[in-house]
Amino acid sequence: MENNNKLIVYYTYTGHTKIIAEYIQKKLNCDILELKPVIPYSTDYQKVVDEEQNNSSSNETLELKKINVDLSKYEEIIIGSPVWWYTITPVIRTFLKENDLSNKKIIPFATNAGWLGHTFEEIKKLCPNSNVENEMNIVFTTNYEENKLVTSKKEIDNWIENI
Ligand SMILES: Cc1cc2nc3c(=O)[nH]c(=O)nc-3n(C[C@H](O)[C@H](O)[C@H](O)COP(=O)(O)O)c2cc1C
Repeated sequence: MENNNKLIVYYTYTGHTKIIAEYIQKKLNCDILELKPVIPYSTDYQKVVDEEQNNSSSNETLELKKINVDLSKYEEIIIGSPVWWYTITPVIRTFLKENDLSNKKIIPFATNAGWLGHTFEEIKKLCPNSNVENEMNIVFTTNYEENKLVTSKKEIDNWIENI
């Protein structure tokens, strides 16, 4: 079965969110879009952690690479973001600010190391005219290089069956 009305949109820095996004894509057989900033982040993980510490309070946005997708085609947008300092990444914030997702169903998922913070609240605030529902918190171990899930695969499968 092909899901023409669903689109997965995600950003990933160290790969976790990509793993989940591609897993959902395989299960739902729907379209997928990876967002990228025009100027890539440093490959020095600790530097990015330190520099992004004020991401949340500063409402940081940045320039995104142009997307060649007609969002109006989709009724449901599954949005995946890593958690950066207790909220969404600037890439996802920029996408949500720049695109009108009114009247669509938004299903957010966040990958993180156990500190979700106000990630889903910020998404809801940025999409006041969308139906934000079925949000999913997906936890990986704190060693980001390990790519190891804390959240069970069964829980993820159950969530995907319901979106
Ligand atoms: C700048 C930065 C800030 C982070 N802040 C948090 C945080 O507030 N809470 C948390 O649980 N994990 C935090 N992490 C860990 C990531 O959310 C987690 O490893 C996530 O799964 C990474 O997704 P990605 O591999 O798709 O980039 C942070 C990582 C980075 C790089």
